[in-house]
Amino acid sequence: MKQIKSIAIICLLLCAVSKAENIPPTTAILGAMSDEVEMLMDTLTERDERKIQGIRFVTGKMNGRQVVVARTGVGKVNAAMTATLLVEHFSPSEVIVTGVAGRINPGLSPGDIVIAKKTAQHDFGDLTAKGIENWGARNPINGERNPVFFPMSDRLLTVAKASVSHIEFEKIGTRAPKVIEGIVVTGDVFVSSDAKVTELRKSLQADAVEMEGAAIAQICWQQGVPCLIIRSISDNADAKANQDYEQFSKIAARNSAKLVEEIVKQLGSGASREEKPTLQPNALTPYEKEFQEMLSGSTLVGHFTMTGQENKTPREEKYTIKKVSKMRDNVWLFVVRVQYGNRDVTVPLPLEVQWAGDTPMVTLTDVELPRLGTYTARVLFYRNQYAGTWSGGDHGGQLFGRIIKTASDAAD
Ligand code: ADE
Repeated sequence: MKQIKSIAIICLLLCAVSKAENIPPTTAILGAMSDEVEMLMDTLTERDERKIQGIRFVTGKMNGRQVVVARTGVGKVNAAMTATLLVEHFSPSEVIVTGVAGRINPGLSPGDIVIAKKTAQHDFGDLTAKGIENWGARNPINGERNPVFFPMSDRLLTVAKASVSHIEFEKIGTRAPKVIEGIVVTGDVFVSSDAKVTELRKSLQADAVEMEGAAIAQICWQQGVPCLIIRSISDNADAKANQDYEQFSKIAARNSAKLVEEIVKQLGSGASREEKPTLQPNALTPYEKEFQEMLSGSTLVGHFTMTGQENKTPREEKYTIKKVSKMRDNVWLFVVRVQYGNRDVTVPLPLEVQWAGDTPMVTLTDVELPRLGTYTARVLFYRNQYAGTWSGGDHGGQLFGRIIKTASDAAD
């Protein structure tokens, strides 16, 4: 029980970086089926591979850039499992999903390509007499509600659109594939129903339907990793979908992979690690700017108490915060340096910040720490001091201290 809070937080931070240290910026490429990824694996130079929990991750250089390619298997659960392993073990700079999809937009034909601007799970929400009313699940990491549509990375979208003119796609018969920017929806069903196509077009304005993209996008969203989905149409998601799939899926998968290869080429070989999805500094309110400046390049030096042990001296705690930046809405990225024993690691932590007027409060509600339990905290920051409450399992207490600026790590 003694020092359990400090140990829990240090373990959380160390787990979060684990094998991510010392790995160069890596573009991850995921596809559900062999036909969607094997050809990309075959192009890699300096190729190596690793099995993690039975999933094969093939690493190497594609057009000079470090990549990792994996086959997720079909469906949202398989996709989310592989995406989670990927983020934990390879810390990718960006994740690109490649493969085939059913057509929803009647203006598309087999072979055409959709570069997703956003993606949603079409089978997640309330099922009512009127059909499915989609809503976003709560992110278990910070308690914030996810959007119905996960937006794709602006930077990757721009690169993808610019890549198209550099590619000669395989023709479908005599027809060159059309490329559009659109909406890709995901669900745990292979759609071969005109009625479902009409519904997905009406309710979500979908252009294409597949079975993995939004699950991977959700993992990326919750972990702050930029994501992009590329899909090529293999069938019309109607009664003939299975037949069309047989005929068009291979060429569609090849054209999708071609676009991904070109995107990787355009990303370049340098350490162009994409910024996490932060807002521009000028998008901050004055209070948000003050908060960012107060905490970036600071050390929290203070104490914490344990309920029921009020007669004991509060114990010491110390956290070095390198940088704090707003990611989106109420989610802020805290880059925290942890020095513990002979380890010295810096970890990015997405945390929810709620505002009471001019006062920010970091809010953790029932956040599960692997093997350590579930923790809750409310910590407010004001004029170079912090104070709050914490609890985990059957213990908890208060924490408080001073925010000391360390000049060398000032906010940028
Ligand atoms: N992937 C390719 N075609 C599909 C379809 N019709 N439904 C769901 N996923 C698909």
